[in-house]
Amino acid sequence: MTEKISTKEFSAGSSGDQIPTLTLKELEADPHAVFRGYRKQHPVVLHESGGYFVLRFSDVDRLSKDPRFGPTGTSFPEMQGLDNGAMFDMFDHGMLTADGDIHRRRRAPFSRLFAARAITEMRPSIRRTAENLIEGWYGDGKVDFFDEFAAQMPARVIADLFGLPREDIPAFTLLVYEVTKFFSFGLTPDDISGIEKAGQQLREYVDEILDERRRRPRGDFLSTFLAAAAESGEMSPEEILYQIFQLIVGGTDTTRVAIAMQVALLLQHRDQWAEVCRDPASVSGAVTEAMRFEPSVAGVARATREDVDVGGTVIPAGQFVTLSTMSAMRDEMAYDRPDIFDIHRSNQPRLHPIFGYGAHRCIGEAIARAELEESLSAIAARIPQLTLDVPPKISGHFGIRRVDAMRLSWKP
Ligand code: HEM
Repeated sequence: MTEKISTKEFSAGSSGDQIPTLTLKELEADPHAVFRGYRKQHPVVLHESGGYFVLRFSDVDRLSKDPRFGPTGTSFPEMQGLDNGAMFDMFDHGMLTADGDIHRRRRAPFSRLFAARAITEMRPSIRRTAENLIEGWYGDGKVDFFDEFAAQMPARVIADLFGLPREDIPAFTLLVYEVTKFFSFGLTPDDISGIEKAGQQLREYVDEILDERRRRPRGDFLSTFLAAAAESGEMSPEEILYQIFQLIVGGTDTTRVAIAMQVALLLQHRDQWAEVCRDPASVSGAVTEAMRFEPSVAGVARATREDVDVGGTVIPAGQFVTLSTMSAMRDEMAYDRPDIFDIHRSNQPRLHPIFGYGAHRCIGEAIARAELEESLSAIAARIPQLTLDVPPKISGHFGIRRVDAMRLSWKP
């Protein structure tokens, strides 16, 4: 457990200036407009449901590397009223919210599996997965793209990576989608109890998979990882379980939303879609721009270790802070015409802000990019005549964002 982080006593900064408080209602209606409205005047705002939001690119970029901002430990489940159970344990035992040596110990066993070079070798099989999915419904001339493609890609890739049976996909993905709802504000007690129930079932599922692998090792990644962990004795059984739990959770919904949004944005900008279909070299820029324009993850969470002055507003020590990459990536001080979707943007930062920063930067970045690029390439090559019949609505401004139905059609 980490020291207590406050999210409540924050109506004014220590500088004495009143800090505006954003409401859930206005943020749910149009988060980009709300962030845009405050960003020029206020580097920092408050959120009615929890903590501070840092809005400007220069601050998000700088503070993400600032040692005065640490991981959030168990403060987020505590904000939601939980002090035990599967969801609490994910924060208590997982890498995302751990600090220093504990974090390094939890993350290190996965570094090689997720390294860019290892993922490059997986690209042909990721591409085949995308092509096989497309062939499954191509002849129908229409598809519920969110369910039949965007959701399937990350689930299949993560199942193959960890050797999970493909027939388990429908069940474990439903649990994951429930669990990822936790990373948002405004949950009711009923929501939380449903999420906790799904978290418990997902925990049991991961436990069974690990047990089976311990009994019958197969020489795959999980078997090797479990043998190495047993030999070194560096990780508790709970830590072993929750790293796999967190990787399954982290690698499923984030990419599902991003795959859907990149296709939707391109189909809404038909000239840029035509270009992607014509020129495979433009795919990487299109993926980067789609993640900037409508990110699937809206920010990174941190806790202040001491008072920090952000552009004249002091965030006191011990506060829950969201570095809003979603706001930062539309900051007019960092991007030219930020509200225009443009796959030719030349001033994208070298490291994409959507994947976070520093020691906690997304371990799944290379695999996410591979899935996004191979999906887009496969779709553009096979169905350039695609039409967007029902555009998806994206919502959310913290954690993993949500997308609803998205339907496409074409003449086969
Ligand atoms: C478009 C897809 C994805 C996005 C936008 C995304 C975004 C992020 C962000 C913002 C963080 C937190 C970084 C920080 O706090 O500085 C993170 C961490 C993490 N992500 Fe991802 N992610 C994606 C895909 C994946 C995939 C495919 C996996 C696994 C297969 C994954 C697993 C994780 C894990 C385990 C962490 C915790 C890393 C740590 O604390 O050391 N993510 N991700």
